[in-house]
Amino acid sequence: MPSPQPVLHLRDTFGRIADDLRISVTDRCNFRCVYCMPAAGLPWLAREEVLTFEEIVRLTRILVERSGVRTIRLTGGEPLVRKGIEDLTRMIAAIDPSLDIAMTTNGILLEEKAAALRAAGLKRLNVSLDTLHSDRFKDLARRDALDRVLRGLHAARAAGFNPIKLNMVVMRGRNDDEILDFAKLARREGYEVRFIEFMPLDADGIWSMDAVVASRDIIETIDREFPLEPVADQRPAPATRFKFRDGSQGGIGVIPSVSDAFCKVCNRIRLTAEGHLRTCLFSIQEHDVKALLRGGASDTEIRDFIAAGVWQKEEGHKIGQADFVRPGKTMSQIGG
Ligand code: 5AD
Ligand code: SF4
Repeated sequence: MPSPQPVLHLRDTFGRIADDLRISVTDRCNFRCVYCMPAAGLPWLAREEVLTFEEIVRLTRILVERSGVRTIRLTGGEPLVRKGIEDLTRMIAAIDPSLDIAMTTNGILLEEKAAALRAAGLKRLNVSLDTLHSDRFKDLARRDALDRVLRGLHAARAAGFNPIKLNMVVMRGRNDDEILDFAKLARREGYEVRFIEFMPLDADGIWSMDAVVASRDIIETIDREFPLEPVADQRPAPATRFKFRDGSQGGIGVIPSVSDAFCKVCNRIRLTAEGHLRTCLFSIQEHDVKALLRGGASDTEIRDFIAAGVWQKEEGHKIGQADFVRPGKTMSQIGG
């Protein structure tokens, strides 16, 4: 038996350690959310460009066993459109049973998949939901699918996912009148609703600073109706979390990605569907890990390559500043 390799954490020049890996398993999606994709879709990656399960698992194993990665989040595009996603989940869970494995999904396929994902070892689920009105859902996701997503949520609960987080991207004039309805939903159903500030990662160029509703305003709106109490987080987290002071089930979180970015404590790195390392959502360069994976590189070479990439991790994004450069990719091409 070879002796275990020492763990060399993924550090950057700002003193942060990356231990949260987000893996985009596909760039494809069956929705066309206005804050992400154009109505006509995007040119998808050719199948051979997308990492295989074996490649994803090898890379994950290297990062978990030799670089101290502790959290894996499967994203897309829409992760559930990747065939056999439950098999990939099981393969990743087998690397280390104590790994925290989560998924961000639009929920439309959860009715079919939730139980299998749970059985495969998926521990946590975030479901994107931006409105509770069917007609508005059609405008925002450009699919008539609210009922199916709600059924998916129930299937996820029945499968034992608890808590389930709902991600709502708040856009001024489009769904910001539903903030209180989502707070009520959190209380009624026990969900943890996370309100996300709209970021300039959309395809249609509809983002503007005016369309962003500041997290502080969201919290004030809810707190007036349902008094909130902050929850102290053990680890640095992007979401600032609150519980209801009256003891109700459910919870609230805000992700002030624009107004008060959590860049200073960001512990995330991303692997795109085509096998590139991205050290920031707003990176303008990527590191081609797939070239090494397919070029016969050793585990150590791959680990060192990723460590060198993370070392160059950006200090943070500059949304709203004069020198902000918009990345050429949409959220669906990066992975949420
Ligand atoms: N701004 C903020 N959040 C976004 N998401 C997608 N695009 C954007 C954007 N432009 C979020 C969705 C989903 C996750 C994958 O990313 O809410 O939950
Ligand atoms: Fe698809 Fe998610 Fe983008 Fe919506 S936000 S289009 S569900 S990838």
